Amino acid sequence: MTSEPRSAPATARNREPIIMVLRQVLPDAGMLLEIASGTGEHAAFMAPYLPGWTWQPSDAEPSALADIDAHARMSGCDRILPAVALDVRANPWPVTQADALFCCNMIHIAPWDAAEGLFAGAARILSSDAPLILYGPFKRYGAHSAPSNEAFDADLKGRNASWGVRCLDTEVTPLVRSLGFSRDAVVAMPANNLTVVFRR
Ligand SMILES: C[S@@+](CC[C@H](N)C(=O)[O-])C[C@H]1O[C@@H](n2cnc3c(N)ncnc32)[C@H](O)[C@@H]1O
Repeated sequence: MTSEPRSAPATARNREPIIMVLRQVLPDAGMLLEIASGTGEHAAFMAPYLPGWTWQPSDAEPSALADIDAHARMSGCDRILPAVALDVRANPWPVTQADALFCCNMIHIAPWDAAEGLFAGAARILSSDAPLILYGPFKRYGAHSAPSNEAFDADLKGRNASWGVRCLDTEVTPLVRSLGFSRDAVVAMPANNLTVVFRR
């Protein structure tokens, strides 16, 4: 790639609070599968802070993979694997085992069947006690938790009627629990986002 890889400004705002949670939640070593890596800037920033971990980025969008790999190269971190094409709705996934799964800002910017595919895949590939870590905006108990999230939800639905901010309590958690996970932690993050940790 000769031009600069794509960049998502939001990653610079949320990456530090997120890595602080990841460092608390993750054990010392393992292989983390990142779903919906986007530009790859989270992988490039976070993997160096997790010295025992190999980071496997992925995205459904084939055109994203070169950007992810470019950011990984620029980070100089040799524990970031080449990005793989992974649409969560597929079964099987190209990655069949992981010690942690991290998915940031996808389930509201995709139809609900992406959330269903994500959680079904997590149940297939995560070992016992391995964390499934979600980051993004969520409704709580059926209601928006902030006016900014309500406006964002309306904007998402205007762009695609099947997108929208999901409810952690009435939509996400019941489905994830039905697949054998327990909800381990809900961490309030800046800008009315949450990091949510489920475990097998
Ligand atoms: C808003 S971006 C988030 C990217 C990155 N995680 C971040 O926080 O900057 C949403 C990403 O979800 C990916 N995505 C959408 N549907 C998907 C699916 N079915 N399977 C895997 N990734 C998907 C898109 O290609 C896009 O890269």
